[in-house]
Amino acid sequence: MEAASENKRVAFVTGATSGLGLAISRSLIDIGFIVYGAGRRKPPLDLPDNYVYVQTDVALDESVNKSRDFVLSQQSHIDLLVCAAGFGISGSIEDTPIDSAIDQFNVNFFGVARVVCAFLPGMREQGRGRIIIIGSIAGKTGMPFQAYYSASKFALEGFVESLRYEVRRFNIEACIVEPGDFKTGFTGSRQKIIAPESPYYNQFERVISVQEHDEIHGLDPAKLGERIARLAVSKRLPARLTIGPLFERLAVWIRRILPDAWFEAFYRMYYHL
Ligand SMILES: NC(=O)c1ccc[n+]([C@@H]2O[C@H](COP(=O)([O-])OP(=O)(O)OC[C@H]3O[C@@H](n4cnc5c(N)ncnc54)[C@H](OP(=O)(O)O)[C@@H]3O)[C@@H](O)[C@H]2O)c1
Repeated sequence: MEAASENKRVAFVTGATSGLGLAISRSLIDIGFIVYGAGRRKPPLDLPDNYVYVQTDVALDESVNKSRDFVLSQQSHIDLLVCAAGFGISGSIEDTPIDSAIDQFNVNFFGVARVVCAFLPGMREQGRGRIIIIGSIAGKTGMPFQAYYSASKFALEGFVESLRYEVRRFNIEACIVEPGDFKTGFTGSRQKIIAPESPYYNQFERVISVQEHDEIHGLDPAKLGERIARLAVSKRLPARLTIGPLFERLAVWIRRILPDAWFEAFYRMYYHL
């Protein structure tokens, strides 16, 4: 276990047991950070000494606060928070029980809010800090049959915009990163809420197969990890950064300039709706 260090930069990364959060952790360690990696499952065994696993469920206040206390008992400061914990549910709005939607928000949105609120007092007291939130391209444009996932990521966009105004005077910066498709455990962990008798069944199957194809052929998470590590030590954090395959970054840009009806027609064609 890492001893307290005045000199090393310290990061707390959620979702650090898999996929993007794990890749971000590795890249931060490569540039000299001590990473406290949070998740419910144990991370892979091949991680360097500067990765300290902290078992955390971001859906629970006590778990997040306990992890924060553990980090601050070992380290005199915290330089960076990266909130990457998340998962996806899919299914039609009509078929999705509200309890499932609440679970989705409890991790993807309130999980971020819990972690940010847990670490903000320490950052304010030390007079500096950086917060990077992993949103999604699905938080810029609603994805068919992923309404609650998209909504949780749209919510993070507003959260980060508001946060930036509030914490600026304490020398704390925040940024939302909007990834496109990266090949991670995300596809395998997705909860699918659909039954063969659903009136949406055929449409759902067509759309989800396109979405999963794009995810499985997505970019290497290491690319995102390296980009976030550079961002973490850059002069200033931008409000947002979209990272992903060119086609998906273009779609976000086109979404801004095309009339809604045209963009919807493009998505209907792309997803065979
Ligand atoms: N992959 C993509 O293409 C993509 C695109 C856009 C955005 N994103 C976002 O990137 C983030 C990471 O996803 P990923 O692609 O890396 O998927 P992943 O490989 O499935 O990793 C998800 C991570 O979130 C953690 N997590 C989930 N629920 C949690 C909870 N209740 N408490 C604590 N940790 C929890 C998991 O840890 P445990 O299971 O150990 O708890 C795991 O480390 C998500 O927010 C996702 O929405 C991914």
